[in-house]
Amino acid sequence: MKKLLAASLLSANFGNLEHDIDIINRSEADWLHIDVMDGVFVPNISFGFPVLKYVKALSKKPLDVHLMIVEPDKFINEVKAIGAILMNVHYEACPHLHRTIQRIHAAGMQAGVTLNPHTPVEVLEDIINDVDLVLLMSVNPGFGGQSFIENTYNKIARLKKMIERRGSKALIQVDGGVSTENAAQLYAAGADCLVAGSAVFGSDDIMATIRKMKR
Ligand code: DX5
Ligand code: ZN
Repeated sequence: MKKLLAASLLSANFGNLEHDIDIINRSEADWLHIDVMDGVFVPNISFGFPVLKYVKALSKKPLDVHLMIVEPDKFINEVKAIGAILMNVHYEACPHLHRTIQRIHAAGMQAGVTLNPHTPVEVLEDIINDVDLVLLMSVNPGFGGQSFIENTYNKIARLKKMIERRGSKALIQVDGGVSTENAAQLYAAGADCLVAGSAVFGSDDIMATIRKMKR
């Protein structure tokens, strides 16, 4: 396990992104996690590419883009243009997932696939060797600050077994309800990368919280 930490911009102060991104730049966070929502795939809208152009300019951390949108293929060029290292699409939004993954790779980015809490990891059996990362949603996507779904531990264990059995290099990422309370247990269970929003930006000392999560 790699113990990566991605700070989720969704819980930052949108009135002063420069301030919050600067703290993340100086922190031990590995990635800045970007949640794009369309109000269709999920019942909320976050921000889009006109805003992310500025986030790109401010962030010194690699951008990990989690698209909670229908038809994510339409935006591969936009995601590439903001300098993302990783483009993450939802399994539930991609009827031709293999083609979508090929297109993300052709654009020069790592490709991730995300599963909603109800989607079994077994649906990835025939694509696990083609993806760079699997994101397990540990809340229903759309909002920050929700409670962690405990069944995620079960999914991490099954996914880890599949990855090992297939000889895949995919990383396991967990997103939703991650805090200083469960970070160590999640890494120990096999998560390579944790995403944390409200636990990071809602804390009094953002840098100390990130450091604590990674220890
Ligand atoms: C939820 C997003 C998450 C969100 C997590 O749909 O995908 O990345 O920022 O927020 P917390 O860490 O507050 O659960
Ligand atoms: Zn996310």
